[in-house]
Amino acid sequence: MESDRDSLLETLAVTEGEEPFRTGSEAGDVVSPIHLSSTFALPGLDTEMSLEDIDPDAGEFVYSRLSNPTRHALEKRLASLEGGEHAMAFSSGTAAIFTTILSCVEPGDHIVAFDDLYAGTRRMLEAVFEGRLGLEVTFVDATDTDAVAAAVTDDTEFVWMETPTNPTIALCDIEAIAGIAESYDATFGVDNTFASSYFQRPLELGADVVAHSTTKYLNGHSDSVGGAVITNDDALAEELRFQQQVGVGDMLAPFDSYLVLRGLKTLPLRMAQHERNAMAVAAFLEDREEVTAVHYPGLESHPQHDLASEQMDGYGGILSFELEDELADAKRFLEALEEFTLAVSVGGVESLIELPAGMTHEPLSPEEREVLGISDTLIRVSVGVEGTEDLLGDLERGFGAMARPSMVVEDD
Ligand SMILES: Cc1ncc(COP(=O)(O)O)c(C=O)c1O
Repeated sequence: MESDRDSLLETLAVTEGEEPFRTGSEAGDVVSPIHLSSTFALPGLDTEMSLEDIDPDAGEFVYSRLSNPTRHALEKRLASLEGGEHAMAFSSGTAAIFTTILSCVEPGDHIVAFDDLYAGTRRMLEAVFEGRLGLEVTFVDATDTDAVAAAVTDDTEFVWMETPTNPTIALCDIEAIAGIAESYDATFGVDNTFASSYFQRPLELGADVVAHSTTKYLNGHSDSVGGAVITNDDALAEELRFQQQVGVGDMLAPFDSYLVLRGLKTLPLRMAQHERNAMAVAAFLEDREEVTAVHYPGLESHPQHDLASEQMDGYGGILSFELEDELADAKRFLEALEEFTLAVSVGGVESLIELPAGMTHEPLSPEEREVLGISDTLIRVSVGVEGTEDLLGDLERGFGAMARPSMVVEDD
């Protein structure tokens, strides 16, 4: 899967995996056709070919659960953008993360994970890996590298981080944690969904494996659910493939593979505009008296701004902020917006806004939310690529609605 090309990320995003002569299309399509076939004609019975010898790079396919030409084209592109050799595409980010963890641990092992993970991943670790499979999981405030070092033991087989996190946009030091994991011979995985391969490449900083929810920035248009895993470790890639194809049987469908392949072409353009808008929104919010805190790594006021500047190529398009008022005021603010849609998820071209305590992080207990700094009036924004002034005007509208006293009918 290693790319023999030394091109810029902007070029790889458009072309890698879709060289016309490789798509197997007699018509010479410049975009990958959507190969819907579940099975492929074999050369004959007297062939010596075994399943292990099948080489998708040479245009050889047997059965679409194992590999499929459209998915393979996408996997080549995902690997090249992340700076990895092997990539696998899954039907969701959750499936990608589950298969990654499954490929790295056995019952009885110890896992160290960021306490500030996507709530679904945290529940997976607690309910499935701890609750059902008998592993031990230590959740740690990984903004503090020393706390990670203190949590890792000789039994630790797997370290799982997310940076920046959701929804408090906290960071952890990928290179430092890679060093800690390596010294204990533990596999180190990073969920790179929020930064995307455009702004951050954890494999280059020492991570062993990277996962994405392609549902977010990589596809970028809020019209496909999918996931990806990328690694440079041949043995881990073999285990991941085994678990994907045989253990779990989960893969991205051809149509979704096509959508992500297409979405990736504009990843660099989209990310640049997401960041421009997010920076403008963050600066606007920081100036508002109704706002008590803005969490965006591009702001100098972010406690980990320097770390972000070191390990990321940009600050991304997601931020969160705190309102000084009550939940009712936050609701009035959200309901008045016209450009920002009230919805979970992030990373699409359209701006989305949500209240984590009542939506994405509602499954956590109030105590867990308090530890993570998720107050009832914390608002998360996935800033889209729309016109900057329209977005700022919309937020102004929200603050206007907040300021208006509630309708009280008074008798004359
Ligand atoms: C950081 C992060 N990782 C993983 C996931 C799970 O991805 P999916 O919804 O594609 O299963 C999400 C979903 O919101 C997420 O935000």
